[in-house]
Amino acid sequence: MRNPKSILITGASSGIGAALARAYARPGVYLALSGRDQERLAAVAAACREAGAATATALIDVTERAPLARWVGEVDQAAALDLVIANAGISAGTGRSGESDAQAREIMAVNLDGVVNTVLPALEVLRARRRGQVAIVSSLAAFRGFPGAPAYCASKAAVKVWGEALRGHLAAEGVGVSVVCPGFVRSPMTAVNAFPMPFLMEVDRAAALIKRGLARNKARIAFPWPLAAAAWLLAALPPALTDPLLRRMPEKG
Ligand SMILES: NC(=O)c1ccc[n+]([C@@H]2O[C@H](COP(=O)([O-])OP(=O)(O)OC[C@H]3O[C@@H](n4cnc5c(N)ncnc54)[C@H](OP(=O)(O)O)[C@@H]3O)[C@@H](O)[C@H]2O)c1
Repeated sequence: MRNPKSILITGASSGIGAALARAYARPGVYLALSGRDQERLAAVAAACREAGAATATALIDVTERAPLARWVGEVDQAAALDLVIANAGISAGTGRSGESDAQAREIMAVNLDGVVNTVLPALEVLRARRRGQVAIVSSLAAFRGFPGAPAYCASKAAVKVWGEALRGHLAAEGVGVSVVCPGFVRSPMTAVNAFPMPFLMEVDRAAALIKRGLARNKARIAFPWPLAAAAWLLAALPPALTDPLLRRMPEKG
């Protein structure tokens, strides 16, 4: 959708979500921003207000279904939603170590349930109006399971496929759905990676590409293209060929 006026972003207190908030911030735009860290979220909202946007903030854990649904409804009442970006996510290694059992469950809860908890209440209001757009932030890690991040890849694959299917399903109802698949983007999530990250992108560049893709209602917004091509190829090749290579890839510490 071009020039959305009422935008809700989860995970707006940091990284890609914060950059998206800043990218959309201008006079006439209402930004509803959520996260868990009050200080960082308030700082992002203040920067958006400085750019002329009106803002509302909410400290909500996306795994909490009822408060999140209530908030989506409240935001829509305040300013009919044009765009909802389900961005909040975690990976193993964000301040923790490895994908332990607990971490695997937490990743599924935030990256999968958290997206479902955001998107379903959003669709309820958008479908009723027969307009609007939903963006689901997945990852290039969704194309193939990487041994170093099984739950992360699985959670991102689940929301990618869910978004692709919803898009076809909802087109006739006037609601757009786009799936965002970034490669490596510089943010607190990747700051813990001790391994080389090919084509590492600055967060404002990533936000600009996402914004441009959403304006065109693209089905899949995947970048940078060389890494997107590699992810596509990895998924297309037989596991017997790719497994030995993937087993040598570095893991998050
Ligand atoms: N960076 C990359 O290279 C990359 C690549 C592909 C995909 N992605 C995806 O892009 C999205 C944003 O990642 P990022 O790089 O910007 O990471 P980030 O800087 O760590 O930001 C993650 C955001 O999600 C929020 N969040 C995490 N758990 C939450 C929860 N349980 N409830 C509510 N909010 C929660 C965080 O809020 P608080 O900080 O306030 O807790 C923060 O605002 C994620 O879905 C990630 O998987 C990132």
